[in-house]
Amino acid sequence: MSMHGFAVIHPGLEPVVAAELAGLGLEGEIVPGGVRFAADAARVATLTRTMRTPSQMLLELATGPARSPDALGGLIKRIPWKQVLNPAAEVRVEVSTKGSRLHFKDTVTRAATAMIRDARKTAYVADKGARPRVAQLVQVRVVDDVATISVDAGGDLLHRRGWRQDTVRAPIRENLGACLLALAEWDGGDALYDPFCGSGTLPIEAALLAAERPPFGRRSFACDEWVGASGPKRSKPGAPGATPVRAPSHPPAVPIVGSDHHAPTVLGAIQNAKRAGVSPSFRHLDVLQIEPPAVVGTVVTNPPYGERLGEHVDGTYTAFGRVLRERFQSWRVVFLSPDRRLAMRVDERVERLTTFKNGGLGVGVWTFLA
Ligand SMILES: C[S@@+](CC[C@H](N)C(=O)[O-])C[C@H]1O[C@@H](n2cnc3c(N)ncnc32)[C@H](O)[C@@H]1O
Repeated sequence: MSMHGFAVIHPGLEPVVAAELAGLGLEGEIVPGGVRFAADAARVATLTRTMRTPSQMLLELATGPARSPDALGGLIKRIPWKQVLNPAAEVRVEVSTKGSRLHFKDTVTRAATAMIRDARKTAYVADKGARPRVAQLVQVRVVDDVATISVDAGGDLLHRRGWRQDTVRAPIRENLGACLLALAEWDGGDALYDPFCGSGTLPIEAALLAAERPPFGRRSFACDEWVGASGPKRSKPGAPGATPVRAPSHPPAVPIVGSDHHAPTVLGAIQNAKRAGVSPSFRHLDVLQIEPPAVVGTVVTNPPYGERLGEHVDGTYTAFGRVLRERFQSWRVVFLSPDRRLAMRVDERVERLTTFKNGGLGVGVWTFLA
């Protein structure tokens, strides 16, 4: 049975994830909410530990028609469970159904849980003493009578990199930060500035990208416990799939700068960068005081959202645009704005690259040349 990976992302950002996969030599099919690609368990585990843009990574174990509990059971039985999950691993089952005969979620969850338990039933074989620690989440999605059975490779959402302590009110998810850098086509070749840096997400993601380091600090993944896709705790440093040992932190080759007008926030960003093992520059500045650290470069930022923070932010957007035109001439600018009206306050020439939902709010990604 051929397996697939499914990289989940907020609708609107699927092409960004597809582009990251393409850069890794994998051709994916874009579907709403993610990108599907052919890959085995070991490949999916490696991608989970190294990709920057997805919010979740699934290993699709089987797909097929499932108009009855028996048909679903047949699919479940054919999955080579022992090739992926440690026989002793606890499995939690989550079901969603849409437009299908199997539509009672609780009934399907109970039936699928029992069928998966039966299909995996086998005497426990000690795996060199490594007992599974995390419950594996198996997702059963039935849409228009077709079931897809997947196991979640991350175990926890992938924006949780393991280096950020949230000290600001509206931090952007780290993988969305990586998506913004990709939309800005920033690859570490020129300077980067985030004048509303908050907890430092964008400069830290940028510094990790520029150093070609994986985005994760200390965290584990459900796939660390998959059979044949061993992870950091079981493999020797440097072995495939192992979390790389953090190299000493060297200053980035190009200026990567974050600033914010709130001093404790800047201190929090510096601490986050330390935990990530990178050293972008952080400064305590109002947006009115910012200066370009290089002649050319890219500004990538998420300015404060009025609705979310309950503030009047029009003046901040106007000031941001004026400062960019005066001091950051010919810099590429990519920023988030909840609507066109605010985006136009920054600059009337703005173009929208895409939209997606951030924390329940629709938000646009806007760009212009300062
Ligand atoms: C939406 S948050 C940015 C979150 C950030 N991307 C992160 O992931 O933590 C906006 C930030 O802009 C800062 N800010 C608001 N007005 C500012 C101003 N006039 N000058 C500089 N920073 C400002 C706030 O302190 C806040 O940290």
